[in-house]
Amino acid sequence: MNIVKVNASRSYEVKIGRGLLDHIGSEVKQLTSGKVLIVTDETVASLYLAKVYRLLTSEGLTVSTASVPAGESSKSVECYVNLLNILAAKQLTRSDAVVALGGGVVGDLAGFAAATYLRGIPVIQVPTTLLAMVDSSVGGKTAIDLPIGKNLVGAFHQPSLVLCDPDVLSTLPEEIFRDGCAEVIKTAILFDQALFSHLREHGSDFDREYVITRCVECKRDVVCRDEFDTGERQKLNLGHTIGHAVEALSGYTVPHGQAVAIGTAIMSRAFCPQKDEILSVLEKFGLPTATDYPPEDLASAALSDKKRLGDSVTIVVPEKIGSCCLKKIPVSELLTVIKAGYKPWN
Ligand code: NAD
Ligand code: GLY
Repeated sequence: MNIVKVNASRSYEVKIGRGLLDHIGSEVKQLTSGKVLIVTDETVASLYLAKVYRLLTSEGLTVSTASVPAGESSKSVECYVNLLNILAAKQLTRSDAVVALGGGVVGDLAGFAAATYLRGIPVIQVPTTLLAMVDSSVGGKTAIDLPIGKNLVGAFHQPSLVLCDPDVLSTLPEEIFRDGCAEVIKTAILFDQALFSHLREHGSDFDREYVITRCVECKRDVVCRDEFDTGERQKLNLGHTIGHAVEALSGYTVPHGQAVAIGTAIMSRAFCPQKDEILSVLEKFGLPTATDYPPEDLASAALSDKKRLGDSVTIVVPEKIGSCCLKKIPVSELLTVIKAGYKPWN
């Protein structure tokens, strides 16, 4: 098992190891001796809830469960208020805990309920997708969506513990696994040449414990320097400004990871001397590197993104594999950047 220690406004451990889910009872028991609400989604519930429930109750914990439909639509005001009502009805206190068992949707939703109920109670993140293991479960961003946009309501609320068991990825559909791979490749391009080499050598058959651990360490380092996302943390958005544009233009039919891959490919062609290596790794993972949406449409969709500040937009520039910088450019220059890295699908 690998342990990554995070020293943010709360200090906690991210534990990564095969078979760790079998030890969830004793892990949670060390943090609370009272009540636990397990929040999950219906797909994850059918696979892992009975086991987690049994392991927690066998430690003498008083366990309740709440299951939301699988998918982004559950990051809603309605699901959030339902969770608050369950927390209140079950009389959880600040010495109790929420266990978020699922992907990024469950982690963000349960995390936000935990952040706000009684002005904040502990949350233990138990990510079950690759994306949630390498990104969303670490760093304390929690959120729900509004009808006009994603993640518009949220809070910074660091977890008390993160438990990653790579064995649960065996049940993940291939496309969702590949979505997470786009975030892994992004992390390697941003921060870690050795991780990039490992991905290039092994493709999607990579060493899961090693790769998850390195991604968590890289994210930890950024979060500890800029927990509240006022500067360096924005580096984690490599490929996301254009990626969000692709998602929006497709009416959210292009999955997030594929959209980020397209955004990363465009930024790499525009700025990185090692672009060919980056493109070949994205392709090795079966991720797209081109789009047929015209540059003009991509630019205007990207500029409606919430990261735009006044007349400028901050882009993440991959300078070389393992190193990147933030650059504030006038809004009018974004189209030039996109055109510089653009390649049509055919
Ligand atoms: P998700 O949570 O919707 O999970 C994807 C699908 O996989 C769901 O249908 C789920 O039921 C299923 N699933 C989960 N684990 C499974 C398993 N082990 N076996 C089989 N099926 C499983 O999506 P995601 O990609 O994990 O997360 C996306 C969300 O994360 C978005 O809402 C995004 O905004 C958020 N996010 C948050 C942060 C952050 O820092 N908080 C960072 C990145 C993304
Ligand atoms: N995934 C972006 C962040 O945590 O800041």
